[in-house]
Amino acid sequence: MEIFHISAECYPVAKVGGLADVVGALPKYLNKLGHTAKVVVPGYDNKFTQENEFDIVHKGLLKLGWFQFSYTILKEKTNKLGFDLYLIAIPELFDRPNVYSYEDDTERFTAFQIAFLNWLTETNQQLDVIHCHDHHTGLIPFMVQFCYNYPHFKNTPTVLTIHNGQYQGWFGFDKIHYLPDFDRGRSGFLEWGGVINPLASAVKCAWKVTTVSPSYLDEISNEANGLENLLRFERSKLVGILNGIDTDVWNTQTDEMLHANYTLKGFKKGKAANKAFLCEQFNLDPKLPLFTFIGRLVGEKGADLLPQICSVALNEFYQKLNILILGSGDTNLERGLQNLQNFYHGNFNTYIGYNEKLAHIIYAGADFLLMPSRVEPCGLNQMYALRYGTIPIVRRTGGLKDTVYDFGDGGFGICHDKASVFDVTHSMYRGIQLYADTKTFDAIIKTTMQIDHSWDKVAEEYSAVYQSLIN
Ligand code: GLC
Repeated sequence: MEIFHISAECYPVAKVGGLADVVGALPKYLNKLGHTAKVVVPGYDNKFTQENEFDIVHKGLLKLGWFQFSYTILKEKTNKLGFDLYLIAIPELFDRPNVYSYEDDTERFTAFQIAFLNWLTETNQQLDVIHCHDHHTGLIPFMVQFCYNYPHFKNTPTVLTIHNGQYQGWFGFDKIHYLPDFDRGRSGFLEWGGVINPLASAVKCAWKVTTVSPSYLDEISNEANGLENLLRFERSKLVGILNGIDTDVWNTQTDEMLHANYTLKGFKKGKAANKAFLCEQFNLDPKLPLFTFIGRLVGEKGADLLPQICSVALNEFYQKLNILILGSGDTNLERGLQNLQNFYHGNFNTYIGYNEKLAHIIYAGADFLLMPSRVEPCGLNQMYALRYGTIPIVRRTGGLKDTVYDFGDGGFGICHDKASVFDVTHSMYRGIQLYADTKTFDAIIKTTMQIDHSWDKVAEEYSAVYQSLIN
């Protein structure tokens, strides 16, 4: 089967969050099953595009309302990612370093989607499924069905995966002329709440909609930033498939980003070496349990609670723990966390920014990973932590609920119900006690490192979804 994945992110080409990790891994594992899965992302002006070589496979023009842009399809030369990677270069719109947060994001991603369909049409590509990820590619299921330019793909199945329903890509009907000509009687398929809502449109028009965990699927019928009723209405075409992690990349024995590699048997020494390296670099005490947070500093991840969580924990459990935070996001939060460094010198530190290598070392060297998320459609960080022998402390929500079970109930993590300072610090207290009970602590680490969250099984579930649409 030939499947095109279209997305704004794909690791290692362009990454902001977990979406990139999924799009960079799932296609590779689909290919292992014998499919031909290809990935299409915008051609950003970033490290990956500068450092890799590409063939030009197609050039064309696209219209966005009254604007016209030329686009170029570039194909990565070596296939080293395990799938064919195509970049759509639209210099005026994507020749910039970042993925999101430009004023013209509506224009950028609408043009990207039009270029994709123009290219497929102009080159008469044969394919079985178009798989869209999040709202940035959410207009495609509508366009293939109702835009006159793409008759060839009218009957091609489309799949939408919702990685994050909070962002929906809303824009006003004043920009409806951006879309190629379509049957105006169908504009209702674009609308939700009086505006054009690309995520809602994809939920309405895609043949199948998947969420990245079963629990998230249950939750979004009650809370989905305004889409609850629509999702309840479309429930029969929704399915929750828990993400996997790329175990080729996330392997303690071969991960080149680590300070020290380790096996299951040698985890104690290996983790200690990574921890010592971190403690040296960040001026922390290697004898104390190391708690960490890795990720975007935004409310959705509960990061707004971090300054208070850290000060309460560092006061109440004085000299009993270290905290290291890696992330970026809300500038007030970044500043607030950096300020704490002056007060808790020697037990607290931050790295504000994105640093993949450091993240790997922290997963290996930390003892506990905090994930107090308010919303967590799947969450991959807890799975990376488990695999590297770091115990996750999570709020029971979305994918966290599906992957982490409390050690008090015979599981291997620490769980709480609320995204509150009290719940999180209480869990940290339990962590400190667990760390002191070396025998139990080590046994839990051994358990976590053996949990199988690889993509192999998950790719089969996606494969079954595609198959059901083709039949
Ligand atoms: C989004 C979600 C996260 C999920 C990831 C990959 O970033 O917030 O929970 O793991 O997508 O699906």
